[in-house]
Amino acid sequence: MSCYVTAADAPEAFGRIAGVRIKADPTESLHRFKQREIAAVFGRCPRKLFRRALELGAGDGYTSTLLAEYVQELVCTDMNPRRLTGIDTDSVAFRILDAEEVGEQFSSGEFDLVYSSSLLEHLPDPGRALRGIHRILRDDGISIHLMPNRLWKGTTVLLYMPNRLLTSVEKLLIAATPSSGRTHSTRRPPYGGNNLKLARRKQSFLTKQFLPRTHGVSGNTLAEFLAFGKARWVHEFQLAGFRVLAVKRVAFSSGYRFGYERVRRVLERLGLYTVSAYILCKQDAQSPLATHLLP
Ligand SMILES: C[S@@+](CC[C@H](N)C(=O)[O-])C[C@H]1O[C@@H](n2cnc3c(N)ncnc32)[C@H](O)[C@@H]1O
Repeated sequence: MSCYVTAADAPEAFGRIAGVRIKADPTESLHRFKQREIAAVFGRCPRKLFRRALELGAGDGYTSTLLAEYVQELVCTDMNPRRLTGIDTDSVAFRILDAEEVGEQFSSGEFDLVYSSSLLEHLPDPGRALRGIHRILRDDGISIHLMPNRLWKGTTVLLYMPNRLLTSVEKLLIAATPSSGRTHSTRRPPYGGNNLKLARRKQSFLTKQFLPRTHGVSGNTLAEFLAFGKARWVHEFQLAGFRVLAVKRVAFSSGYRFGYERVRRVLERLGLYTVSAYILCKQDAQSPLATHLLP
């Protein structure tokens, strides 16, 4: 019997056994979400469309296994060596890299695709990274950046208290059951945070009770809500010399691993999504690759 159940199955599971997980496993749910991201963005691309691609802020590198389908040679990078532990293959090379320094680390025009998911909001100076990307991108290349949007921020604030409650119940169940739950930790793996270039911010006791920590580098919840707006990112991309070809709706996720798949599908059908993909090419340039990516 599996001791991993989603919240959608929870009532049944509560009746059957105690000590199970209520929320989805962090790694499994992250990887499932990455599959959906890649399918939403690259689903219509032919195999091995891109000759040489770069992924920035790749985390554990799982996405590289999915991107490899569309890319002949991939350089998969992250700044955190504890997180990016992949071993090079014929088509994927792993490298530790600060995304803000990307422009100094590769040759001009070396890549026809530069990709990131949930990275730019973690950079204190995303403009520097974007100018670097512009330099190393071929003139007819494409750059794609996925990021949480304002609906994501609002959702994480609204669901913060329900999530705390659910997490506490899960911990109690695991503690009350000597054998079943302990094979799965409720904690995320000890990778360190996502905002690698900032000291971890302290939250006041009161704020902690009602509001989630900020996800990216913004100083507080309101600043983050504003920073996650589309107009802000379009402006950043234009300043770095890019043209925004499309802002694609990618997927809905609360970020809390509740696992309500059916609810998620309904919300997506209603046009609600929490992750946006910005598809860019250089200003004054055309990219034949874009035809496979645009909605
Ligand atoms: C939210 S995670 C996203 C990871 C992965 N892209 C994914 O979608 O699962 C943000 C990642 O950005 C990385 N990161 C933060 N600052 C970075 C920097 N300056 N340069 C490169 N990577 C950075 C973190 O180590 C982390 O792996």
